[in-house]
Amino acid sequence: MPVNADNLVILHYPERALRTPAKPIKEITDETRIIVERMIELMDEAEGIGLAAPQVGLSISLFIVDVPSGDKNSPDSDPPSATSDVMVFINPKILAFENAPEPYEEGCLSLPEIRGDVLRPPIVTMQATGLDGKPFTLRAGGLLARCLQHEFDHLQGILILDKMTQMSRMKNRTAVRDLENSK
Ligand code: NI
Repeated sequence: MPVNADNLVILHYPERALRTPAKPIKEITDETRIIVERMIELMDEAEGIGLAAPQVGLSISLFIVDVPSGDKNSPDSDPPSATSDVMVFINPKILAFENAPEPYEEGCLSLPEIRGDVLRPPIVTMQATGLDGKPFTLRAGGLLARCLQHEFDHLQGILILDKMTQMSRMKNRTAVRDLENSK
């Protein structure tokens, strides 16, 4: 069934689609491009730095990231810790992690009012296909590495709720319950 991209919205936990593992994309079509366009619009409206297809109810292996440069983040560092534009990752795979996991506070557009510390390796190498159909490999650090791993998790149906430190779980207990009860 064709997707009407205009109707896509960012879904909130505990929406089922957020827990459904994404399926590989076999062919990049006009529909894929229209979906990506709409996802960029939604991410920008929400002032997010990443958005995965399951967050708009689509169980397909695709996410976008747009990590702005800042005090600590740059697309020109080695490895890059920001992007210079929106990047599209189709059927991504993680090739390598480097260094011991570090905690950092994360939020998620599907989990309003929730922020928690998540441990992740600081450097990740990911392989994916771009919207142009060309495969690419990216070794990323800093906020970009974190964002890539967060979005990759979405494709497996994994949320920061599953990975937060015990302390953060406690801190967000009421907010999580409120979301669960708002359904
Ligand atoms: Ni998220």
